[in-house]
Amino acid sequence: MLVEEAIRSRASIKVFSEKPLVPEMIESFLDAAVWAPNHHLTEPWHFAVISSAMREALARVVRADMLEQAAELDLTLVEAKALKERKKLLSAPTIVAVYSDAGPDARTTRENFAASAAAAQNVLLMAHSSGVSGIWRTSVVYDLPGVRAALHVHEGAVFVGALFLGYSLQRAVKRRRTPARDKTYWLGLDDLEPKTGKSDEVRG
Ligand SMILES: Cc1cc2nc3c(=O)[nH]c(=O)nc-3n(C[C@H](O)[C@H](O)[C@H](O)COP(=O)(O)O)c2cc1C
Repeated sequence: MLVEEAIRSRASIKVFSEKPLVPEMIESFLDAAVWAPNHHLTEPWHFAVISSAMREALARVVRADMLEQAAELDLTLVEAKALKERKKLLSAPTIVAVYSDAGPDARTTRENFAASAAAAQNVLLMAHSSGVSGIWRTSVVYDLPGVRAALHVHEGAVFVGALFLGYSLQRAVKRRRTPARDKTYWLGLDDLEPKTGKSDEVRG
């Protein structure tokens, strides 16, 4: 699949079959991920691959963390939230949690995060070009202390995203983007006026 085709046709998918991804395939996504651009080659990315066998255990860690942090009166609400997170965790056969090292200063931490986000997009594009669907999700659960410990997250590392991967059971979704020209100023090209374009629609 050509790069442009992969970029344009990738779409976030939330419903997956239970068919597992072979480890070699996940490894190939991660091997490509680390070729993301990265200032000073800090290589700040870390990946925790959560396989289907690990999901129930992780859901229990999430529940325990949530209960520990909760005020006593909130217990029913916390149980409901933990159940919701468990359902989410069980929704994909593989989840790759991406974390980014903190740097010695805020600027480096921000640049590390940007590089790790580029690595995460590499994973999604590699998956898509291999016939595997995915979605980048965020949730407070990936910053819970027990979860960070279970996923071997480095001290101070910043959570970037949880990449849910699997084989889609979902119909193609209609996606739209505002054309880039509506978001762009061309500097030094006086004859190019910004144009209002029609919405760019792509079926994923
Ligand atoms: C940083 C980041 C966080 C996201 N978090 C969530 C999330 O928590 N839940 C969710 O359903 N989608 C999440 N998404 C996916 C977006 O909703 C999705 O990319 C957007 O709807 C555009 O759809 P597309 O990916 O099919 O182009 C996230 C995407 C990014 C980049």
